[in-house]
Amino acid sequence: MSNRIAHAGLAAKRMSAEQAAALIDPGMSVGMSGFTGAGYPKAIPLALATRITAARDRGEPFALRILTGASTAPELDGALARAGGIDFRLPYQSDPELRARINAGEIEYMDIHLGHVAQYTWFGFLGHMDVAVVEVSAILPDGRLVPSTSVGNNKTWLDLADKVILEVNHRQPRGLDGMHDIYYGTALPPARKPIPLVHPGDRIGEPYLRCDPDKVIAVVETDAPDRLGAFAPPDDTSRRIAANLVDFFRQEIRAGRLHGQLLPLQSGVGNVANAVLAGLRDAGFRGLTAFTEVIQDGMLELIGDGTIEVASASSFALSPQGVADFVANIDRYRERIVLRPQEMSNHAELIRRLGVIGMNGMVEADLYGNVNSTHVAGTSIINGIGGSGDFARNGFLSCFLTPSTAKNGAISAIVPMVSHVDHTEHDVAVVVTEQGLADLRGLSPKQRARKIIENCAHPDYRPMLQDYFERACLHSRGRHTPHLLPEALSWHQRFLETGTMRA
Ligand code: COA
Repeated sequence: MSNRIAHAGLAAKRMSAEQAAALIDPGMSVGMSGFTGAGYPKAIPLALATRITAARDRGEPFALRILTGASTAPELDGALARAGGIDFRLPYQSDPELRARINAGEIEYMDIHLGHVAQYTWFGFLGHMDVAVVEVSAILPDGRLVPSTSVGNNKTWLDLADKVILEVNHRQPRGLDGMHDIYYGTALPPARKPIPLVHPGDRIGEPYLRCDPDKVIAVVETDAPDRLGAFAPPDDTSRRIAANLVDFFRQEIRAGRLHGQLLPLQSGVGNVANAVLAGLRDAGFRGLTAFTEVIQDGMLELIGDGTIEVASASSFALSPQGVADFVANIDRYRERIVLRPQEMSNHAELIRRLGVIGMNGMVEADLYGNVNSTHVAGTSIINGIGGSGDFARNGFLSCFLTPSTAKNGAISAIVPMVSHVDHTEHDVAVVVTEQGLADLRGLSPKQRARKIIENCAHPDYRPMLQDYFERACLHSRGRHTPHLLPEALSWHQRFLETGTMRA
């Protein structure tokens, strides 16, 4: 018996990825593990893609509904999309192949708050789940599962799917055992009870996933790394964005609205987020906490050097260097990291209670503070809303960060009207670019517009925004939210026609 599969009955269900993939039929709804490129099944999706390609070559339709925790990797989203094997996908993706097919209209994609997925599945809003395909790092003698590098929606998939296929990945460190906290106290309304978590480091559940061994139809052993992204060092723009936010936190401390350890941090993924974390360390902050979705290199470093005392998340997104550090120091990290199901890491009740400071990237913001996190020119999706909405609506402070321009200055990230709305003006407290920071709290729409133009817009676009706003104010004769409707989206139209938003 493999030393990672200690349950005799489940060890007897070992088979190849090809044999396991043959148990998944066309039209099925499949819940897969995986969150930001961590903990996704490595072998079965590839075998499935081969099977799908062969079926389609024979002229037989073969497509699946694929639900995950969040984004996965080329071996899952990329391979299945390329094979034409996905007809519906949720809740988040970042794979170029999948994105292209979604934007080509070949795949239906539901972009949904990550914190809503599990409960929507329990409510029955997302239909029936036929199979769960979940990566774990080991199976215990009693059949409980040691989770992998992400938890995501695995608990829900294992509970609700008719059948379960497990991938046991020998590459995942054994030291993950004990890092997870799986809470089994959720219920459906009206039977819900308060969730007993009052500090990011609290452990309120158990370290293992439960799974009925009778539902398991296959166990596949793998030995493959998670997708390992390399992070570019922060550039000058990211550093300036970070510096503006760190200055703001210092002002908030001076004003008595934050204390020296701030409040639990949520940090989106990407280089700007990494730069903000580095900025906090360099500014001398210590004893911080994080209540977030993803631990990427920047956060791991801060946990390692004590800037962050404890971090709660649902997954990792590490570079090869980050993984090497994590594995080498896993016993220390296990004391300071709690990995939870995403229904907990992104839970509105917990985010509100803890007073989380949300820091997320965005595509564009408009004069009034509405934010687009997902779509280029209102129509083509980039990734998805992810957890940004869970934190923006419910956090103590919701901060949105972006360079003031994109595509070498051809696009202004501050526009008259956003071309797609993910976060409304009611959910956005702070907008930050390398130009400065607009604190929108307590301001009316017109006050917000002046602040965003002055503090956040790039100087090349500031006069154009000023001109739009002044004419909108004149035209609307002081109405609450001045707009020139025929012009409101003209910047996007100009970009589509000429390749730049510049007039
Ligand atoms: N118009 C068109 N494209 C834009 C744009 C705009 N206003 N702003 C950014 N982009 C493009 C960039 O050019 C880049 O494209 P490229 O990959 O072809 O170069 C891409 O979007 C990513 O932008 P980048 O500046 O590298 O920032 P990022 O890595 O921080 O990503 C988001 C920004 C908005 C795409 C990203 O934060 C996101 O997906 N957010 C939604 C999910 C989320 O917030 N999750 C948080 C919890 S993990």
